[in-house]
Parts: sequence; structure tokens; C-alpha cells
Amino acid sequence: MDVGSVLHTMRDPAGIPSHPVVFQVLMIVTWIFHIAFVHMTLGTAGLAIYAFYKRRVGTYWEQLSMAMTKSAKVGVSLLIVLGVAPLLFTQVIYDPQWYTASVLSARWLIAFIFTLIIGYCSWFVFYYSNHKGARKRLGIFALVGLALFLLDGLIMHVLAYQSLLPDQWMSWYAPGGSVDTRGAKLHAIQWPRYLFIISLSLPALGLYLIAYADYFRDRADRAADYLAFTRRLGLRFAVNGSVISFVLLLAWQFVHPAATGLAWHPVGWLLAAALLGLGYFVRHSGERVHGYLPLLAGLCVLGVLAVWRELIRIRYMIPYGYDIRDYTVHADWPSMALFFSTFVGVGGLVGGFFLITTYRAGQVQGLYKADKIVARMGTAAVAVLGLWITIFFAYGIAIWMRNAFAL
Ligand code: HEM
Repeated sequence: MDVGSVLHTMRDPAGIPSHPVVFQVLMIVTWIFHIAFVHMTLGTAGLAIYAFYKRRVGTYWEQLSMAMTKSAKVGVSLLIVLGVAPLLFTQVIYDPQWYTASVLSARWLIAFIFTLIIGYCSWFVFYYSNHKGARKRLGIFALVGLALFLLDGLIMHVLAYQSLLPDQWMSWYAPGGSVDTRGAKLHAIQWPRYLFIISLSLPALGLYLIAYADYFRDRADRAADYLAFTRRLGLRFAVNGSVISFVLLLAWQFVHPAATGLAWHPVGWLLAAALLGLGYFVRHSGERVHGYLPLLAGLCVLGVLAVWRELIRIRYMIPYGYDIRDYTVHADWPSMALFFSTFVGVGGLVGGFFLITTYRAGQVQGLYKADKIVARMGTAAVAVLGLWITIFFAYGIAIWMRNAFAL
């Protein structure tokens, strides 16, 4: 049996509930938010540690270290939550690739969960101990946390990359003809790809700092000099970071196998141009524009990266005749309607309510009082959640009764 037939045979025989391109678009879009928070977390964690070792009591470095420690703490929880959506969509349309890659490195995948937990706990210890005049040796907890996050990123990368190489799966599964079911190895790492994606944490940190400075502009407890200091730092990180990432992107461009024709694909070069454009924009206009604008430009760069990753996957799959568009579809409109209304209702309204409340509360010193609109949003969010839970259970119970009692 050739590899292409194996891939098709491994697809879920139940098919998928809607057109595959719907899931592909959702996978690309949701991954942008996952990776944005990965970058924000790694960038702020790195700076928190640097500032921690550089600080003297009462300096801006001390204040910055504490602020970045907090940012990274929130970032980890968001990157985890936002990683779930693209994970689900990948598993819907690329299930043969994802599951095989996972089983081939099963021990690492299981270790991923534990290292993430240990890393996050370690970061929390640092967070609790990183206050004024904290002892330097406590920095070890932050170093352990960051190292484990980087390892987790590497594991994610390996799973994504191994998924692209089905013709090597047998040699990993049964090296030399004898089966090895331990899943103990990370079989394939494409360092330029991993390092490039991780390096984007540098410009992302810069953009975050610029937005941070503007966000706290009206708060009396953040000195104007401190905010000017973070903004200047942000500009430097954004500009220099874009150049460093650009160099790594070049390295990645030229390791694609010649047969894929990816080295000169316009979208890869669009990504390079977008990155340089971002650096140029921040260098020349970063001082004048509102701090949220560069952040938005950064999200656009990630959008191109997300599309580029998917184009790479499509190209790698061509020799195996694997095209998501011929995935069997068994349309299930009620569950699609439930899914999209959850996306809009729970994701949009409830998520939007949380976002707006935390955003506004952070801008106020002391107690935050919601205005009428936000208060109404809160009531609507609770109502939507109630409705969602009712429909969810009613739908499940109806299906169960229909099957159990053949109604
Ligand atoms: C500190 C923890 C994490 C880091 C640093 C991290 C980093 C990364 C990186 C660098 C990639 C891109 C890999 C590549 O394209 O080569 C990636 C992809 C991905 N990550 Fe994460 N990640 C983390 C946690 C998670 C978690 C907890 C989830 C799920 C709940 C998740 C879901 C995904 C998914 C679905 C992809 C795309 C895989 C694909 O397209 O094949 N990640 N992550």
C-alpha cells in the first residue's frame, strides 16, 4: 500500500460535519491568536528575567520585571486556552498526520502536559516572590519556567513537522525492521522553522511594550518617565527583533526541499516583506502613532505566517494525493449551528464582556465601576450562558432519548 492510500484509510470514516475549508479557515484564524500569546508570553518572560537580574531596588527595571512577570503569567493561560481551538481543527482535517506524529513521539506528548504544568507552577513561584527587593537566587524558578515553555514549543513544532513527513513514519516506527512502540524520540526538528517562529517573540515583545506604555498613559501610579522608558525599549525590541527574525526566516526559506518549490513561493517572501515592513513602520512612525497600531500590524504579520504554514502543509501533502477538499462530508447542520452560535454568543459576547471589563478595569486605579453598557453586557453574557447550557443539555438529552428508545 502506498503512503497516500494509508493516509486516506486513516481518515475518520464518520467524515466531518461541514465543508473541510470551513475548518481550515478556522484553524488558520484561531492559530494566529494562539501564537500571538505564545510570543507575548515568551517575550515578556524573557524580559522579566533580564530585568530581574539587572535591577537595583526602586529602579524602573525592578518595576518592569514585576510587570512583565505578571504579563507572562496571564499570557500562559491564554496561550493554552487559545491553543485548543486550532488543535481541534487540525485534528478534524489532518487527523492521520496529527495522530501519527503524536503516537510516534507519545512520551514527549505526555511529557508536554507535565512540563507545562511544572513550568507554569515554577513561573507562579517566581511571580509570588518577585516583589521589591526580592533575592536574586529566586530567579532560578523563572529560568526553569521559561526553559520548559521553550521545550513545550519545541514539542509542538516536532509534532507539526513530523506530520509533514509521512514517508519517514515507517522508518521511525520500525527502525531497521524492528518495531519500536516507545514513542521515545523527537524524530524530526527543522531548527530554522522553530527558531524563526520563536524569535518572533522579540518584535512581539517590542510591540507589547509600546502598547503597554500607551495603555497606562492615564494612570497616575505609572510615572511618565517609566512609561517613556518602556516605550523606548519597545521600539528597540520591535525594530531589532524584526531584523533578527527576518534573518532566521531567510534560513527557513532555503531549507524547504527543492521538490516543494517553496523557496521562491510568493507568500514566503510576502512574510519576509511584512516583517521588514513592520520594522520599518515602527522605526519611522512608532514614536508618533498610537501604541495599538503597531500591535495590529504585528497581528497582520502573524496572519501571513499562519497562511504560509498552511500553504507549506498543502505543498508537502501533494505527492501523497492528500487534499482536504475530498474529505467525506456528512453535513450535520444542528451541530454546526450550535457550534457557530457558541462561537458568536459565548465566544463573542461572554469573551467580549471579559475582555472589555479587564481592559477598562486595568486603566483605573483603585475600584473600577462598570458603566451602563458594560453592565448590560454582563447581564446579557449571563443570559447567553444560561441559554447555551440549556440548549446543550436539551440537544444531548433529545439525541440520547432518540437513540435509546428509538423514538
Ligand atoms: C508554552 C507552551 C506552548 C508553546 C511555547 C507553543 C508554541 C508553539 C509553536 C512554536 C508552534 C508552531 C510550530 C511549528 O509550526 O513549527 C505551535 C503550534 C501549535 N500549538 Fe502551541 N505552544 C504551546 C502550547 C500549546 C498548547 C497547550 C496547545 C493546545 C492546547 C497548543 C496547540 C498548538 C497547535 C494546535 C499548533 C499547530 C499545530 C499544527 O499546525 O500542526 N500549543 N505552538
